[in-house]
Amino acid sequence: MNFAKKILCIGAGYVGGPTMAVIAAKCPQYKVTVVDVNPARIAAWNSDALPIYEPGLSDVVKQARGRNLFFSTEIDAAIDEAEIIFVSVNTPTKSFGEGAGKAADLQYWERTARNIVKVSKGDKIIIEKSTLPVRTAEAMSSILNANEKGIHFEVLSNPEFLAEGTAIADLNNPDRVLIGSQLTPEGLKARDQVVEIYANWVPRERIVTSNVWSAELSKLVANAFLAQRISSINSISELCEKTEADVTEVSRTIGMDSRIGSRFLVSSVGFGGSCFKKDILNLVYICRSYGLTEVADYWESVVEMNEHQKRRFVKNMLRAMFNTVAGKRIALFGFAFKADTGDTRESPAIDVAIQLVKEQAKVVISDPKALDNAKIDLASCIDNVEFVKDPYEAAKGAHAIAVMTEWKDYKGLDYGKIYAGMERPAFIFDGRNVLDHKALFEMGFNVFPLGQPALKHLKTV
Ligand code: UDX
Ligand code: ADP
Repeated sequence: MNFAKKILCIGAGYVGGPTMAVIAAKCPQYKVTVVDVNPARIAAWNSDALPIYEPGLSDVVKQARGRNLFFSTEIDAAIDEAEIIFVSVNTPTKSFGEGAGKAADLQYWERTARNIVKVSKGDKIIIEKSTLPVRTAEAMSSILNANEKGIHFEVLSNPEFLAEGTAIADLNNPDRVLIGSQLTPEGLKARDQVVEIYANWVPRERIVTSNVWSAELSKLVANAFLAQRISSINSISELCEKTEADVTEVSRTIGMDSRIGSRFLVSSVGFGGSCFKKDILNLVYICRSYGLTEVADYWESVVEMNEHQKRRFVKNMLRAMFNTVAGKRIALFGFAFKADTGDTRESPAIDVAIQLVKEQAKVVISDPKALDNAKIDLASCIDNVEFVKDPYEAAKGAHAIAVMTEWKDYKGLDYGKIYAGMERPAFIFDGRNVLDHKALFEMGFNVFPLGQPALKHLKTV
């Protein structure tokens, strides 16, 4: 079949997979190929058991796979054939050397760029999809265009704003699509080609164009602002606990101010996910490298507040449970970093579980989708942790339950039955404020919400 465009995505992860599946579903006239170095991942994309859990994803994949959507490990052949290449390989925070713990590790990106140069026989448009430090596109353009084959690579930035758990809805109906390009004739021509892809289903006024560096920076700043709202409300949750104010009431009230807006004001045990911490640290690193100490400190405090919130959650548990959890069974309800995903990257549950194990608790992890990832995350303390999918089983004989993820299922459980099987006194720490605290208290639980007065039967805690 003759396709109008041949699009390739390198990296079949949480971003590349869903994004390309939606492009293929919306644009049957294009051939969309997704490649990855990981053969198991590609095999899973070609099977009924997709490698990631995302509501609605499997229907979209089924609609397009084999028609104009292909998953493959034949990276070189796919590069050769494609006119437009999205790159969404992983860009973790560097764990070694200069910038360790802060700067982005660009080795996967650079390796990909070098491979594109080696294999290509003609001009191509290369699109950054992974979030990267500002000015990466420039560095990549230098690597790509230092070839002696006379091939021109136009590098664009098209950051992805989808959130996990709502990826398909976000891709179908994005607030905006951002395409950054050089403002040269070649850059603008390439930009128009990418605009044309999204214009198949995104209203034109929501397709925003900018220069490359603004696009790169906008992605980092969007994530920094979102995370900053969570750290801000989490800081207030601690104050609420001291003053007997209720953080949910404060959120509701301030969110009604249309200048503030109501979203991303839900206090939690901390934000997780692969992006927020990484992107803020990246922003901090860039600011420091330009000598902008105050700016760097300002944004770094958003991450520090998040770390504090996780530590504080465990400290509250300890204090409530008579200053010791040693030998006590504690069930964590949820391990994913948010509901509707199996992803556990930077999940606050990781830190909470590890801290509890250090306190010699017997930790039981329950989650509908994330247990496989949880086992990998807790490999260092796996002998002291149990993994039990069924929350009723997990809570049996437990001294405490801590809600880590706002899975809908947890609201509808029979807590009377759970209470009957637990040790006394029984505690619930609601790290997401999703349960009916009054009802739980009336059943006999000692209830510790976040940023709200605790409901306790015990006078001493
Ligand atoms: C985020 C951005 O939202 C998205 O635009 C970007 O492309 C990638 O990073 P994601 O990490 O998938 O998406 O999920 P998000 O919904 O932003 O949640 C991040 C974390 O913040 C989760 O741990 C979530 O539970 C937490 N959160 C979110 C809160 O604690 N309170 C809130 O009010 C909102
Ligand atoms: P994200 O959340 O940004 O999508 P993931 O870690 O889920 O990140 O996905 C990144 C994917 O990129 C992984 O599946 C990884 O195997 C793949 N990858 C990394 N380096 C390369 C490379 N050089 N060529 C192809 N795929 C790569």
